[in-house]
This record gives sequence, structure tokens and C-alpha cells, in this order.
Amino acid sequence: MYDFQPVTGQAKADLYRDLLAAADALTAGEPDSVANMANLAALIWQFVPELNWAGFYRLIEGELVLGPFCGKPACIRIPLGQGVCGTAAQTRKTQLVEDVFAFPGHIACDAASRSELVVPVVRDGALIAVIDLDSPRPARFDGEDAAGIEALAALAALRI
Ligand code: SME
Repeated sequence: MYDFQPVTGQAKADLYRDLLAAADALTAGEPDSVANMANLAALIWQFVPELNWAGFYRLIEGELVLGPFCGKPACIRIPLGQGVCGTAAQTRKTQLVEDVFAFPGHIACDAASRSELVVPVVRDGALIAVIDLDSPRPARFDGEDAAGIEALAALAALRI
């Protein structure tokens, strides 16, 4: 049994530090990338409040393909350059979207989503996946969330 518990009401920096430590412990020594993505998505879901979707899209043969996630069923394939995920993948830059309705080409997978954070996962200079977080609250994500998920993406790059 794994019992990683987020501390209620803790500062974001502490939350992401604990999330990273849990992610490291849970994926260390496990070579299966699907298992590790599934557990990382579950940890994000458990630790980060106010989410309606959290998970991975993987770069496969030039397009993003849905990977392990928590939340409602989602779009399966996203071309590079399209939507928030495709933009993060193409630019290899974190996309922090305060209002998804204001993002040109946003792909609505869950109608409840109002804000979104997408972080590229890069290994040896090549994009391999993105981590996508959706929230029903507008402007849910800030620079601290982006930094926390970027640290997780750096770990994920070595474990997926
Ligand atoms: N909103 C994303 C699509 C993926 S879902 O949010 C899970 C986008 O615009 O790329």
C-alpha cells in the first residue's frame, strides 16, 4: 500500500516539494513507463487541489496521443501546434492559460475546464510528452504551479 498524503493548507512550494518526493519514491526502480505515468497522474490528482483533469499526452509519430490520466475521458489525438497541449509540445514551452476560452484553438475535452497548465516533458533534447492539468476555476494556476509541475516533468523525463 502506498500512503502519500498531502498536508492540508500547506504552501504551494511545500506541496510541490512533497509531490516531487512522493513521485521520486514511487517511480524509482520501476522501468515501465505506463505504470509510472499512471502513478504520476494519480499523485498530481491527489496532491494538487481544484483539478478536473490531470495526465499525460505522449508524442508518438508526430502527434500527441492520450496517456495515463485522472478525470473524464479525453480527446485521444492532438496535432502539434493545436490546442494548449499541441502548443506546449510544438514550442516546448510551458503554457499557463488563465482563461481557456481566450486561448485560440483551445480543445475542450471537459466542458468544466476554465484554466489550464501544460508542461513539456523533454529528454535528451527531444520532446517525449506533455503533462496537462485542467481546473474548473479560472486563473487557478500561477508561476509556482508551473515551477512545481516543471520539476515533476524533469523527473518524469527520466522515468517514463
Ligand atoms: N484542453 C487541451 C486538450 C486536452 S484536455 O484538456 C484533457 C488542449 O487545448 O490542448
